[in-house]
Amino acid sequence: MLQLDLSKLSTFLPADYLPSRRQALTRAHDMLQNSNGPGGEFTGWVKLPANYDRDEFARIKAAAARIRSEAQVLVVVGIGGSYLGARAVIELLCSNNYNLKGKDTPDILFAGNGLSTDAMLETIALIGDRDFCVNVISKSGTTTEPAVAFRIFKGLLEAKYGKQDAARRIFATTDKARGALKGLADAEGYETFVVPDDIGGRYSVLTAVGLLPIAVAGVDIDALMSGAADAMEGLAQPGMDNVGWQYAAARHALYEAGKRIEILACYEPCFRFFAEWWKQLYGESEGKDGKGLFPASVEFTADLHSMGQYIQDGHRNLFETVVRFENPHGKLLIPIDPENVDGLNFLAGKPLSFVAEQALRGTILAHVDGGVPNILMTLPSISPKSVGWLIYFFEYVCGLSGYLLQVNPFDQPGVEAYKKNMFALLGKPGYEDRKAELEARL
Ligand code: PA5
Repeated sequence: MLQLDLSKLSTFLPADYLPSRRQALTRAHDMLQNSNGPGGEFTGWVKLPANYDRDEFARIKAAAARIRSEAQVLVVVGIGGSYLGARAVIELLCSNNYNLKGKDTPDILFAGNGLSTDAMLETIALIGDRDFCVNVISKSGTTTEPAVAFRIFKGLLEAKYGKQDAARRIFATTDKARGALKGLADAEGYETFVVPDDIGGRYSVLTAVGLLPIAVAGVDIDALMSGAADAMEGLAQPGMDNVGWQYAAARHALYEAGKRIEILACYEPCFRFFAEWWKQLYGESEGKDGKGLFPASVEFTADLHSMGQYIQDGHRNLFETVVRFENPHGKLLIPIDPENVDGLNFLAGKPLSFVAEQALRGTILAHVDGGVPNILMTLPSISPKSVGWLIYFFEYVCGLSGYLLQVNPFDQPGVEAYKKNMFALLGKPGYEDRKAELEARL
């Protein structure tokens, strides 16, 4: 499915950078396959494409069909790993303009991923008097942003439909037994879906966390899972022919050579949120113990006219990973202009994709000449199958990368610090001492 071109690393890395990592990769691979490395209790995603709960999968499809028939808008409430995967896949497969398109599926609005009053008011205004449903997603069931947003949307639903009918329009994706959201869902009779115990938020897109909103958008989730299953099978084969091993080895070698930023680049605007998902996956998995590559992203060619300057010419601590989709879904030819005022008739009759391809090729060489190592990944096209494949590939390489770096790729202790301060400043019971100390400092 994926062709990996590492040829543009040759001037930046020692010739043996791949074989010299064979042993470490073998260990990392075994830890992922056998769930016996640091954080091994959170590696349920490794075999998920084969083991997922078929009954719940059927319920997801049924719930998606009901939402499609009863709602013009689905509000998806969640943050971090409980938000980014669904948005990434919906935008990549259905367009970043999904809500603007003429379609027979509901608009999908994301809420609870911040604390902006204006954004929340805008979401409420966008729903207007249309029929809507809510999918509230929180593994812990206690995260402040989605919990606050859910209170608001639950209230709006109850005001519009009454308590009983509102409950039919709420779908809760959370822990199977614990947490405030699970307790509320059981008490109010919401249909619930499970975030498995052994899968952390940022690895959960192929569980109900991502799949319900993705199915509501009309995506073929069978094909998505089948692409992931293909990746799982291929990447389970150990050895330096494994493209996952190759990508993990390359980014680790670049890190050891002094690179500190990996920029994920794509020429498709619909890829923007996929890159956001990728940033969370890698940032939260690797960025700890004073280590890790900083994951950044750009959208080309737009960002060649902004970030392009820095990439070409700024601090030389970065490298680029370009994701290229070979075949667009349609063809657009550049028209001839008898006046030829812009001098572009030499391109007349050529497909727009040809121009994009030359931009990509030229940019890679320019950036490599400017001292930016390049990794190129080519996939045939954007499809449910290729996206499922790519999701699993990035997750697998992320696990390998964490172990190469000798960190636990499945915890996120750093995320707690702001939460504790926020709770203290909000006056949550039990945080009184911390509040006094923080107020004094502020
Ligand atoms: O990856 C993670 O674990 C985090 O980003 C969480 O997904 C995020 O904090 C939301 O947590 P929860 O699903 O418990 O509300």
